[in-house]
Amino acid sequence: MSAPIDLGLLPRSAQIATSRLSIGGCDLEELADRFGTPLIVYDEGELRARCAEYRRCFGEDSVAYAGKAFLCLAMARLVHEEGLHLDVVTGGELQTALQAGFPADRLVFHGNNKSDDELRCALREHVGRVVVDSFDEIERIERLVDEGFDAPSVSVRVTPGVEAHTHAYIETGTEDSKFGFGVDAGVALEAVLRVAESAAMRLGGVHCHIGSQVWNLTSYARAMRVVVDLVATVGKQLGAPVEELNIGGGLGIAYHAGDAAPTIAEYAEVVHHAFDDACAAAGLDSRPHLMVEPGRSIAGPAGLTLYRVGTIKNVPSVRTYIAVDGGMSDNPRPVMYGARYEAFLPARADADRPFVATVAGKHCEQGDLLVRDATLPDGVAVGDVLAVPVTGAYGYSMASNYNRVPRPAVVFVTEGAARVILRRETLDDLLRLDQS
Ligand code: LLP
Repeated sequence: MSAPIDLGLLPRSAQIATSRLSIGGCDLEELADRFGTPLIVYDEGELRARCAEYRRCFGEDSVAYAGKAFLCLAMARLVHEEGLHLDVVTGGELQTALQAGFPADRLVFHGNNKSDDELRCALREHVGRVVVDSFDEIERIERLVDEGFDAPSVSVRVTPGVEAHTHAYIETGTEDSKFGFGVDAGVALEAVLRVAESAAMRLGGVHCHIGSQVWNLTSYARAMRVVVDLVATVGKQLGAPVEELNIGGGLGIAYHAGDAAPTIAEYAEVVHHAFDDACAAAGLDSRPHLMVEPGRSIAGPAGLTLYRVGTIKNVPSVRTYIAVDGGMSDNPRPVMYGARYEAFLPARADADRPFVATVAGKHCEQGDLLVRDATLPDGVAVGDVLAVPVTGAYGYSMASNYNRVPRPAVVFVTEGAARVILRRETLDDLLRLDQS
């Protein structure tokens, strides 16, 4: 493959003028010069458009953005402005949401091992939904409510025993999962009834998330059938309908030209169809309110990372390594999941890419390769700015300080303006925890 970068992998505001690429009206080379590299650039318009598309496809009050994909104060505010709910999964994400002014009653609080302190914070702030994941957690909430907190609204995370056909590390709907209560084994029913009968909580709904980077939409249809059957059984046993069913997130996205990822609209169609069918088959008179919880498909395609090339090493008859100033500390996905990305030069965005080279990070590991066998224009040189598209989800949020590398800055761009939403870490930041 030697074609120029496919603009379909970039935010829809991408424009090429005299070979240079701009996003949100901002020239990428200029952004790299102004803010330094590595730099994560989000097109704010793309983020908003994706939130709006989800709202359009699923309806008001039916979409929670999964903050684990990318969360900070600015992102939480944007998600709220776009009218979505927000899924948080730790005390840290919860605190970020609260500090951003996100209304607590629009928060969904996940986690397979929430601490007393995390739960106390959630109860004190009256978060909209606590999603319980174990019998220990149900008991923990009962003890906390005894301390004087109001009874929370609780959803029960269940595992439908369905494969999502994705990487094993991000497959969460099978029986062998650390998350949720298994439906097959009857534990899910027991947990839902346990919550419904507890005086310390109110049953808010049932929740299920089968995995992430899912392209095979039939997995959703199969999961839907299982959880809707569960909802119907619970309704019969309690003599009252289950109010809400959250089918989780997981819609996969394209990282490479030619990746055939479903669109948000196609995903919505499958989910709604499966919901209608499953409700009809289960004979449900009163259908639960259906919610989804996307992360990657909102944040991923809206972001890209800019690096600067520092070293080019040709290993004769083996390969050429192009080393950049970031790596597995700002994007651990290639090393964790074997994730594949593309690369291009924003100063020559319309150039063919016949040159095959491997983009390496600067970390002390041979596995620290950002793009194996990338295709790039001929003549890549030290000092060039190199871009990796589709890095908006699970890059910064999983970033580390491995090798004491500071985390990059993050900017939002829109209508020709760029603003720093997360400043670059400094060496002082890195030392702030050290007790001399
Ligand atoms: N809801 C729950 C309960 C989840 O656990 C997740 C993702 C989501 C929603 C959002 O899924 P999404 O729409 O983003 O696929 N670090 C991995 C992905 C881990 C996903 C964890 N849970 C990666 O980089 O591929």
